[in-house]
Amino acid sequence: MQNSTSKGASALPASIDATASLLASARYLADRSLATVLFLALKMGRPLFLEGEAGVGKTEIAKVLSETLGRRLIRLQCYEGLDVAAAVYEWNYAAQMIAIRLAEAEGAVDRERLTHDVFSEQFLIKRALLQALEPDTAGAPVLLIDELDRADEAFEAFLLEVLADFQVTIPEMGTVKAQHPPIVIITSNRTREIHDALKRRCLYHWVGYPTAERELAIVRAKVPGVAARLSQEVVHFVQALRREDLFKAPGVAETLDWASALSELDAVALDPATVSDTLGVLLKYQDDIARIDGSKAKELLDQVRAELRAAE
Ligand SMILES: Nc1ncnc2c1ncn2[C@@H]1O[C@H](COP(=O)(O)OP(=O)(O)OP(=O)(O)O)[C@@H](O)[C@H]1O
Ligand SMILES: [Mg+2]
Repeated sequence: MQNSTSKGASALPASIDATASLLASARYLADRSLATVLFLALKMGRPLFLEGEAGVGKTEIAKVLSETLGRRLIRLQCYEGLDVAAAVYEWNYAAQMIAIRLAEAEGAVDRERLTHDVFSEQFLIKRALLQALEPDTAGAPVLLIDELDRADEAFEAFLLEVLADFQVTIPEMGTVKAQHPPIVIITSNRTREIHDALKRRCLYHWVGYPTAERELAIVRAKVPGVAARLSQEVVHFVQALRREDLFKAPGVAETLDWASALSELDAVALDPATVSDTLGVLLKYQDDIARIDGSKAKELLDQVRAELRAAE
């Protein structure tokens, strides 16, 4: 279905390998299972529902897809209280009022005509979901519905309707239906469960932390200036941290930040003092920092060095 919209530079990938290469061309290194589910979502024209910890690359997938496929990225950031006016459309009341006043000032007001005029496209403010249903010469856009778990359940129910038929009804104007459904990526940090009914419409993937090997490749791709030894130590240290009992384990985003920060400090290898001074780049809760700082950090560092020596 969605394939028919693709042409030229924005053609959808034809295989799982091609999907992985497409992402890699924008320096996004996906594992096989993610490349597979993404390939299927694109091929079958189904929304992709991504859940996972913070900072593991959920949002980035939509950005990379839009960039590599040459499609427009339309982002809907969810929050508590998000409603149809903010997500789909709202009427520009101020402009409507001015139009009405002007018509009145000119005299002879044809009420029916005026109503028709002020409820026309000119006075419609289109928000993300409506924009995503409109045709685009570059092909159907990428619609990112980010952090859906933050929105209320009422909004989720509404979204279900939109995703079922890729259409919305504006009472004063009629129904807007997408000629070509957008590529939909939905993310959730799982602060609450998303309903089965919505999940059923989507393909699902849990985005986990990467293996040490892949995380090292991500660091090398994204922070190229870092010394080889340092990047290895950074990745192994972060992987060891994730095995600790922390309130909030560091994501890939933190690994990249830490590698950049250490590189800024001209570090070439980790030592206890540097780790202690820069822990705030990795851990964002004082309890976690207090738990790791000092002897625990040193212990982890020794462990990392032993691991790396054994692998040499
Ligand atoms: N597999 C990957 N390949 C390349 N970069 C990655 C990968 N995973 C994560 N990143 C990088 O990590 C950072 C965080 O990614 P992103 O913002 O997409 O995370 P997220 O899962 O949406 O997090 P949050 O839940 O906090 O919004 C980005 O800079 C992204 O480029
Ligand atoms: Mg995100």
